[in-house]
Formats: sequence, C-alpha cells, structure tokens
Amino acid sequence: MERIVVTLDGPAGVGKSSMARELSEALAIPYLDTGAMFRAVAWKLGEGSWDWDEERLRAALKDVSFELHGSGGSSGLSLNGALIGDEIRSERVGMWASNVARLPVVREYMKAAQRAIGERSSLVAEGRDMGSVVFPRATVKFFLDADVRERARRRYEQLREMNEPADMDDLAESIRARDEQDRNRAVAPLRPAEDAVLVDTTHINKEQVAALLLSAVRERVGG
Ligand code: C5P
Repeated sequence: MERIVVTLDGPAGVGKSSMARELSEALAIPYLDTGAMFRAVAWKLGEGSWDWDEERLRAALKDVSFELHGSGGSSGLSLNGALIGDEIRSERVGMWASNVARLPVVREYMKAAQRAIGERSSLVAEGRDMGSVVFPRATVKFFLDADVRERARRRYEQLREMNEPADMDDLAESIRARDEQDRNRAVAPLRPAEDAVLVDTTHINKEQVAALLLSAVRERVGG
C-alpha cells in the first residue's frame, strides 16, 4: 500500500485517541498521539516551564527525542527511550500541555518531530493541528467535535477507568478553559483544515463514528 496519512483533529475529550486506535488497527498502520507529545514535554520540563525564556526552552528541547514503535492498537510512543505512561493523563497535565503548546519554540520543535515520524511510515495522526499545519497534504483529514458536556462525560469515563479521581463539573470547566486557550492561541490554533471532513459525534456512538471514518478512508484510498 502507498504511504498514507490520516489526520484526526478536534477539541479535548472528543474521542480522537480511541478513533485513532480503531482506524490504525483497521488499516494496520501506527497511530501517533501528538497530545501525548505535548503532555510528555510539559511533564518533563515541569510546572512553570511555559514561563521560561526562549533560549532556556530551546536548550531543554535539545535533550528531548520521541520515537514511535509498533502498529495499530499496540502503537507506543517513547520519550528519550522510555515508554510514555499514564502519568501524563490527568487533566492537570492536559492544561500544562496546553500552556507549553502556545509557545512558538515548542510548536516548531513538535512540528519537525511529527513530520520526521510521518516520513518514516504511514500514520493516523491525532491532535489539534495535524490537518491544518503539520500534514497539509494528508490523504484524508477529519475534524471531530461534540458538545462540551458530552466530552466531559467521555473524559470522566476514561479517567475512572484509569482510577484517576474525576468530577464532571470540574472536568467540563477545565475542558472549556483548555479549548478556549487552544482555539485562541496565535500559532496553530485549534480549527479544522479547509479540506477536513467535519464529524459531530455528540449523538453517535464510538462504533458508528469508527465505521464512518473508516468508510471515508477506504473511499479515498480504495480497498
Ligand atoms: O489531546 P490532548 O488532550 O492529549 O492534548 C493536550 C494538549 O496538547 C491540548 O490541549 C493542546 O493544547 C496540545 N496539543 C496541541 N497540538 C496537538 C496536540 C495537542 O497543541 N497537535
């Protein structure tokens, strides 16, 4: 099969990760969770790193390298040789990620790292700017959206499964604040690429979304 890149963008908690996993499994290609890259960098540099000056950030990013292994549901991302785990999954680290993701020096670093990974293999790439900035020539682009209460509910279920404490109202508030920051930043704001397929998932279940995305991809690539 020719190398393909499928991009999945959208706001927090919309289900991009589980859709990326499903699609990559069906297509037998790796998936790249770029939110995990921002979370892992924020986690490694630590609270307040978003206030560092550019030189200090640039120097710190020199010591960061990502590697993608495996394929389909067993795709895994490492930071400096260590597999990234669930320690980055809290809503607090999500906000840290959003804070570092505003910084042009961090975005430049990530864009280069993500493109380098995309040059090596086919990908399902999920994030905020995959279709709009990082992979403008992607084979198929999707933008998923859903009502904020529904997204809070999905994130709640996810956190509960990981035994992380969660409160629906706090989650809805934090997701709303994070989306607002992601939508309003100067560099690579959260928005659909012009040629993205828009999918509102508020009233459809995971299986229906997966079937819809997969048939759109198959239509585009044949098979
Ligand atoms: O998708 P996830 O919630 O893991 O992303 C965490 C944060 O990382 C987002 O709120 C966003 O600020 C940032 N991010 C980004 N660009 C991406 C992926 C994530 O700015 N491609």
